[in-house]
Amino acid sequence: MNFSHIQFSIDEGIGLVTIHRPEKLNALNAAVMQDLRTVFEHAGSNSEVKGLILTGSGEKAFVAGADIRELAEIDPPRAEILSSQGQATFRLLETMRKPSVAAINGFALGGGMELAMACTARIASTNAKMGQPEVKLGIVPGYGATQRLPRLVGRGKAIELLISGEMIDAAEAHRIGLVNHVVEGSNLLAFAKDWLKKVLANGPLAVALTIQAVETGYDVGLEAGLRFEAMAFGFSAATEDRREGTRAFLEKRPAVFTGR
Ligand code: COA
Repeated sequence: MNFSHIQFSIDEGIGLVTIHRPEKLNALNAAVMQDLRTVFEHAGSNSEVKGLILTGSGEKAFVAGADIRELAEIDPPRAEILSSQGQATFRLLETMRKPSVAAINGFALGGGMELAMACTARIASTNAKMGQPEVKLGIVPGYGATQRLPRLVGRGKAIELLISGEMIDAAEAHRIGLVNHVVEGSNLLAFAKDWLKKVLANGPLAVALTIQAVETGYDVGLEAGLRFEAMAFGFSAATEDRREGTRAFLEKRPAVFTGR
């Protein structure tokens, strides 16, 4: 596949997406967003890809936000479309039914932090800086932060971050639960791969359904969420993976899952 602003490779079932616009700190312009949409569609339907890691090119930034030069020119009807389309692209990633990890190798601001929040997990390097600075530009976040940030860190902290526009460092992001782990930059990709490999060694259908149950539960409330969980549990009990997983335990050997 040919991309102008991302690099994509697959190794041992892990798709590595590197946002590659380092001279602009990997800011999300229209071309990057188009490439992201294409790669998420491709990864979602390609059985070779079992999970995704997203990172930024260079040592300074994951993604420093939406492209401010484009935002400076945009008219209101086009802005609403841009937001809806960007939300849909990030939703593709979030609902791909394959786990994804943001390997945050520096600034993750605005759309960059929103992209990281659409991933299943976030691992930050010690030099990472995260924030939603949109209000400092006189705009509202448009790629999901007002919805995903409170779900991740709670309403009080989310509103503070969203209306102050201030950046936080990796340690604070970890303390509030915005990132799952913080590691040295030199170890970031290796750590993200090991983390994802551990998840991918589990029953793939069980992992996908568990993520879906958590996400669905947030949207529909406890009663309906519990119903969804019970149905997902029933579905998982009908899979070959359930037979293999339980048998492997009883036979004291590692399970080999097929995702069926
Ligand atoms: N959109 C467009 N260009 C951006 C950008 C963005 N979001 N973030 C950085 N860039 C560009 C800069 O304009 C600069 O380009 P230039 O060399 O042609 O002037 C280049 O990337 C390097 O950035 P620079 O500001 O010189 O680096 P820095 O180390 O001094 O500062 C940041 C780093 C991240 C603090 C700073 O770039 C910044 O505040 N960026 C905007 C963050 C933001 O508000 N994002 C939300 C957008 S909704």
